Amino acid sequence: MIWGWIFSALIAVTLALCPDVITKPDFDLTMYVGDWYEIQRTDDAFQSDAKCVRARYAALEEPGTFSVLNSGVTGNGTYISIIGVGIQTNASEPASLTVTLPGLPPGSYLVLDTDYTSFATVYSCDETLEGKIEQGRLYSRNKTLHQDQIDLVMKDFADLGVNISQFQKYYQGEDCQYDAPPALCPDVKTKPDFDLSKYVGDWYEIQRIDAAFQFDGECVRARYEALEEPGTFSVLNTGVRGDGTYLSITGVGTQTNETAPGSLTVQFPQRK
Ligand SMILES: *[C@@H]1O[C@H](CO)[C@@H](O)[C@H](O)[C@H]1NC(C)=O
Ligand SMILES: *[C@@H]1O[C@H](CO)[C@@H](O)[C@H](O)[C@H]1NC(C)=O
Ligand SMILES: *[C@@H]1O[C@H](CO)[C@@H](O)[C@H](O)[C@H]1NC(C)=O
Ligand SMILES: *[C@@H]1O[C@H](CO)[C@@H](O)[C@H](O)[C@H]1NC(C)=O
Ligand SMILES: *[C@@H]1O[C@H](CO)[C@@H](O)[C@H](O)[C@H]1NC(C)=O
Repeated sequence: MIWGWIFSALIAVTLALCPDVITKPDFDLTMYVGDWYEIQRTDDAFQSDAKCVRARYAALEEPGTFSVLNSGVTGNGTYISIIGVGIQTNASEPASLTVTLPGLPPGSYLVLDTDYTSFATVYSCDETLEGKIEQGRLYSRNKTLHQDQIDLVMKDFADLGVNISQFQKYYQGEDCQYDAPPALCPDVKTKPDFDLSKYVGDWYEIQRIDAAFQFDGECVRARYEALEEPGTFSVLNTGVRGDGTYLSITGVGTQTNETAPGSLTVQFPQRK
């Protein structure tokens, strides 16, 4: 029973072996870094249906290491991105790289061939108990690559025994979103009939979302007082830190918009 189990486990692993790969022998990482647009790839559970996929590589200080920023747009139009780190793993095989993305085990990243200026063929194969996980990517420096050249370089994968019908072409173009959209603040409807003179006094903070300029303390009280100049006020925030230190900071505020009286601006002195 046990032997049978071990035997079948051995068979499974044997069947799932990754091929011997000859990577680009004179690979130069410093020429490889920069932006690459993914023209074709095999199915990939991680990026699923993403189009507009760009991989941005940058050298890190430690020789032989680099960062990678992968971005793309999913089928439902959501912009996604992930940052990983990579390393050259074998001094005598400079194109044999390992890339680690957050939450995933390190994956192999084998550059089969590249001319650094137009295309790169990248293969990865990792053996697991469930079998091998194999992926192929055709990268281009340009957002488009001529079909002639695509056909030419796909031979790199065919030579490895990879079924190149598994590759799919994904959209790239000027209308792709490659960079993260800026985080825009939402339109906010403030209390229309806000009355500052009724608002002043003491307020105890019951809940808050984290804000860098706020206290990280408890027992937070905000004390507002009207200043002489109409529409201006002072605020004294006090609280107690986890280590027992008492905190207090005084700021000044003003109503910024006549037609939106509940829209205020508060200034605090720079905290060290
Ligand atoms: C869009 O797809 C992503 C992943 O593919 C998913 O995380 C997200 O929830 C989806 N968003 C919408 C609005 O369906
Ligand atoms: C490093 O590369 C050399 C040359 O291709 C190869 O013989 C050796 O097995 C590799 N070492 C490891 C640890 O993969
Ligand atoms: C990049 O693609 C554009 C648009 O298809 C083309 O005009 C240009 O010649 C290409 N550049 C290179 C270096 O292939
Ligand atoms: C190659 O992949 C295609 C698409 O996934 C599939 O239809 C075909 O059967 C595969 N061929 C072989 C020899 O596995
Ligand atoms: C002032 O508030 C009005 C009404 O909410 C708004 O339409 C306008 O854009 C605001 N002006 C400024 C400068 O924020």
